[in-house]
Amino acid sequence: MESEIPVVDLQGSRAAQVRTFGEAMTNPDLPGFAAFVGHDVSEQAIDMAYAASRALFAYDFDELMAYYAPELGGERGYTPPKETSRDEAGGHIQVEVKESISFGRRTGEHPGLEAPLRPVMPDALVTLFSDVMMRVFDPTHALFAYQIGLLEEYFGGSLGALEHVGPDDGTMMRFLMYPARARLERDAKRCAWLDARWPDWRDAAFLSGAHIDSSFLTNLIRATRPGLQFLDRQGRWVMIDISRLPRHAIVTNAGKCGGRQTGWLMAPRPHRVVRVGDDIDRLSGPCFGWLHPMAPSATAPVCLERGGRAFEPMPTWKVLQTDLRDYGML
Ligand SMILES: [Fe+2]
Repeated sequence: MESEIPVVDLQGSRAAQVRTFGEAMTNPDLPGFAAFVGHDVSEQAIDMAYAASRALFAYDFDELMAYYAPELGGERGYTPPKETSRDEAGGHIQVEVKESISFGRRTGEHPGLEAPLRPVMPDALVTLFSDVMMRVFDPTHALFAYQIGLLEEYFGGSLGALEHVGPDDGTMMRFLMYPARARLERDAKRCAWLDARWPDWRDAAFLSGAHIDSSFLTNLIRATRPGLQFLDRQGRWVMIDISRLPRHAIVTNAGKCGGRQTGWLMAPRPHRVVRVGDDIDRLSGPCFGWLHPMAPSATAPVCLERGGRAFEPMPTWKVLQTDLRDYGML
């Protein structure tokens, strides 16, 4: 099955943006994803970021592994192919043959992580990355704040979130490579890493296992290939049709933190990535919009009034830490 997703045109009227985005995030009969067009993330910056990603993931595996910091739970630096994600749908552990690099602006303490949340990046790539990637990160981060404004207008009151978005919030961007099997098989070091852990990795059907995001909202720079599926109300996995979306559309979905703030009126939708079509690399760039780590994650009064579930206040960092542990990242 395949489904198109609602498109929010930022050059269109504000009222239409509020309505389309609000509906897309709250109507359980819709996919739970929306595509943003007319945004400030330039096509050139996105193309450069994907080109930089390709260069990064072509690096020698040992060199990249020097920048793998497990105590940061994948929030910064390089993450190699890993064995797992708890599968929200089936409950089983599975192999995910993907690699990623994660970065953000915030460099301070984060009570939920074992180490200071500092930028961790291969020295040789700092120049390439800091400039190229931040040109995507900064406007995507600004879009996140704008979207909260749209949601507040839709709900008709404050979500208690906008004041916790800023330069020191926890927003993090990740570029992901789902490598073509044929290319992996020519890479002796990556094969050795995978063979030693999961001899059957070549049969892995899922590039990313079923999960819900932990973020407030996730803004995904459209992937270079299809493969993203969501779980619909009837329990069926439906492929998101990206063929009619502009190449530089940003695909948005709600995460657990946004779900809590809205009393689950904006319910995060389980999703996964499967391999489709030709065996070629697939790249994507999710930007996980987070409030400040100390911000209280709790149902906003306006959402309680509208029948939302009551979530007791919990610091945002704890929402993230709990999920990282559940997903085996910490
Ligand atoms: Fe996700």
